[in-house]
Amino acid sequence: MRTPLIAGNWKMNGSRASVKELLNGVVAGITEVKRAAVAVCVPYIYIPEVASRLQGTPVAWGAQNVSTESKGAYTGEIAAAMLMDFGCRYVIVGHSERRTLYAETDAGVAKKYGMVTAAGMTPIFCLGETLEERERGVTEQVVTRQLKAVIDMHGVKALQVGVIAYEPVWAIGTGKTATPQQAQAVHAYIRGRIAEYDKTVAAAVLIQYGGSMNAQNAEELLAMPDIDGGLIGGASLKADDFLTICKAANR
Ligand code: 13P
Repeated sequence: MRTPLIAGNWKMNGSRASVKELLNGVVAGITEVKRAAVAVCVPYIYIPEVASRLQGTPVAWGAQNVSTESKGAYTGEIAAAMLMDFGCRYVIVGHSERRTLYAETDAGVAKKYGMVTAAGMTPIFCLGETLEERERGVTEQVVTRQLKAVIDMHGVKALQVGVIAYEPVWAIGTGKTATPQQAQAVHAYIRGRIAEYDKTVAAAVLIQYGGSMNAQNAEELLAMPDIDGGLIGGASLKADDFLTICKAANR
């Protein structure tokens, strides 16, 4: 039985004051979350504050990106070991915003995946097709290519220590969610591809859905057999909405 993971991706939002308020709200309601594991992936600069607030609570924390390198002359970058040093459990790699806006490649994302696992943390590995790719009917080829980049570099067993997040790009921040059936179909496809390499890994790996998941639609998405949680953008910025999504996994 896979334990779902609900993770907030705050993206580039927040202030010291709003972070404090949001975390207080999430921690206050967390005992009502019975089944899902819960985490927040926050802007780097808030990690120390988030770590000290969440220490000793059931809510884990993490980052939204990491360097491909381990240390040295890489101005502006943050190494995996630094995130580990601040108790991060999760690091998002390959988010579509980074792939599109910062030209991250499949190989670069795979390298980051390895940096995160080598440091002892869990990568949340994002993949998903654009609207144009979906309309062209190449969704399966796109997610296969993205998945293969990690498997080719690190072997299929590396997926055992990670989480996959299927995020159709056309559903991110658009209010246009994939239907439960659309999402389930791609999740099942991804799991099937992994099973071709290793059935045990395929059965165990968490595949989250991300893309306009909210307090209203979470329950029906999470009810699908291959959807093991969510990676939540906008709705993770409001404690009540985020908690409602976390609780939707109770059933
Ligand atoms: P939204 O929930 O705001 O659509 O963002 C999804 C996402 O990109 C999570 O990583």
